[in-house]
Amino acid sequence: MVYAASAGDLAAVVELHGACSARSRHRRYLSGAVPSSSRLRRLLEPARGVTLLAATGDGDMAAVVAMANLIAEGEQAEAALLVRDDWQRRGLGSTLLIWLLGHASSSGYAALVLHMHAENTPMLRTVRRLDHAALTERDGAFLTFTVPVAGSSRRPPW
Ligand SMILES: CC(C)(COP(=O)(O)OP(=O)(O)OC[C@H]1O[C@@H](n2cnc3c(N)ncnc32)[C@H](O)[C@@H]1OP(=O)(O)O)[C@@H](O)C(=O)NCCC(=O)NCCS
Repeated sequence: MVYAASAGDLAAVVELHGACSARSRHRRYLSGAVPSSSRLRRLLEPARGVTLLAATGDGDMAAVVAMANLIAEGEQAEAALLVRDDWQRRGLGSTLLIWLLGHASSSGYAALVLHMHAENTPMLRTVRRLDHAALTERDGAFLTFTVPVAGSSRRPPW
């Protein structure tokens, strides 16, 4: 199940971060710091944008296994993904990114911007699956890709 997050998802998202490897968290946040609860709370309900969560299981077995963030600034929206290590390579990251693109389209943003480490092969491959993604900046060990939103027809499922 994929749904738009709210502040009530904080505990599950803290758990997601605890279950991810240090490498995955480092790749997501581009630094070694684990995000604080207050930063995660802000990510769950951005002033402009959306956070999508992918969850599995029911009741006591329910767990959030991926988070996708879209934070808008002006006409652009920054997108970022975190998929729990044991759920990677199953298409989840690509699917969430396409839904973020759909959300950006329906919200009228001009482009998605994605920042990543140059060595982050999984994210580079995920971005290259999108049409029109262009490398727009290289700053030492960091890359920025910009994806024009116009023409994206995939709509999010909510
Ligand atoms: C990057 C990330 C979101 C990809 O999510 P995912 O669910 O594993 O991605 P998908 O299953 O949709 O695969 C997308 C592409 O990445 C490739 N890929 C995924 N994991 C890979 C790995 N460990 N090594 C090499 N390629 C990998 C897939 O093969 C696929 O490419 P292909 O179509 O050329 O075969 C996930 O690895 C992750 O959360 N990483 C840690 C956080 C991060 O790096 N965030 C990015 C910064 S915003």
